Amino acid sequence: MTTRILHVVGARPNFMKVAPIVRALAQQPAHFGQMLVHTGQHYDANMSDIFFKELELPAPDVNLGIGSGSHAQQTAQIMQRFEPILLDYRPDWVVVPGDVNSTLAAALVAAKLGVKVAHVEAGLRSFDRTMPEEINRLLTDQISDLLFTPSRDGDENLLREGIAADKIHFVGNVMIDTLVRLLPKAEARWPHLQATHHLDRYLLVTLHRPSNVDDPNTLAEIMAALGEIGQEIDVIFPVHPRTRARLAQIEVAEPKSSIQNLQLVEPLGYLDFLAMQAHAALVLTDSGGVQEETTYLGVPCLTARPNTERPVTITHGVNRLVASTQTALVEAARQALRQARPTGQRAPRPELWDGHAAERIVEVLKRHSV
Ligand code: UD1
Ligand code: UDP
Repeated sequence: MTTRILHVVGARPNFMKVAPIVRALAQQPAHFGQMLVHTGQHYDANMSDIFFKELELPAPDVNLGIGSGSHAQQTAQIMQRFEPILLDYRPDWVVVPGDVNSTLAAALVAAKLGVKVAHVEAGLRSFDRTMPEEINRLLTDQISDLLFTPSRDGDENLLREGIAADKIHFVGNVMIDTLVRLLPKAEARWPHLQATHHLDRYLLVTLHRPSNVDDPNTLAEIMAALGEIGQEIDVIFPVHPRTRARLAQIEVAEPKSSIQNLQLVEPLGYLDFLAMQAHAALVLTDSGGVQEETTYLGVPCLTARPNTERPVTITHGVNRLVASTQTALVEAARQALRQARPTGQRAPRPELWDGHAAERIVEVLKRHSV
């Protein structure tokens, strides 16, 4: 009898995490059947469709089409629309990645129906409950039956919260599985990308955390910092749709003439964005995934946040936290740019960030099969 797996994805970072698991399960058709549900939390072509193509993910079997809304609206709608799908497919496991609203909503529906939940990227904690993701992580982990952690700090956090040790499996980082597989393809696109955007030595920026972009004063400080840094080095900023909307409110949707070297562009596909990370002199971000990818690539990264749920990116990587003020950002960028980019001699990559995390997940699922 095959074990039936139902994956739930919804937002951009979910696609990179689920892709290697779908691939690894597909290699064992005698053991596993699988189905992919997209909640529709992210729906723009450049926030969703492009990743299915580039990551070679099968098209979702179902799209719940929930779109944008408040946290309560989004979570409740996913739950309502997901329940009948779950009752119909009757999987043995629901697999949820990460920490977005789609993750928690799907896990909650499954747990209430007595369907076992496997959480991929479990155990990460920023210890900052003002972040919506921290609430999603805490609750999803509490109701999950298998918890796959990307780093050992995740295991420690879960054990401290009273999760049984036999549910916790340290498997490594699935996002890095995707990076390892697709880096050569991304590199092949670099010459074209470099020419298109006239890139030489540059700062790559991504920002979408409510704490950075929803407050107009903070966002204005960040934009002022980019303007100042832009006088010294080219800046390219693929703008997340949340951020695009907020920039329009403070009237810097398009670069001003005073900040000539700042290119605001649409969100990029995975391959182009990966190539841009790999060749950046410096990355400024508040993204969870980007902190991890720069760590793997050894590209210096400034994270515009007071904390991170991914401490290994600091202890094993080249990540540094920085306050979201003009002065702090400019000073940190100048300092990082003065330091030569690490070559050869670099800290070892975090344990099990080796491109094989999904295979380990599949082995654990197999051991837990009926
Ligand atoms: C969500 C996740 C966040 C994750 C991020 C990755 C939650 C609570 N937040 O944040 O953890 O880091 O995705 O990118 O789940 N929008 C569009 N088109 C889209 C998607 C969004 O225009 O395809 C705009 C809408 O105005 C929407 C806003 O972006 O209201 C925010 O989208 P939402 O999914 O609620 O949160 P994100 O900020 O994307
Ligand atoms: N990413 C992308 N295009 C972009 C910006 C980011 O493909 O323009 C990728 C990035 O390489 C990483 C993932 O999106 O794989 C991170 O997602 P995001 O920053 O949206 O969410 P977070 O990781 O913060 O939850």
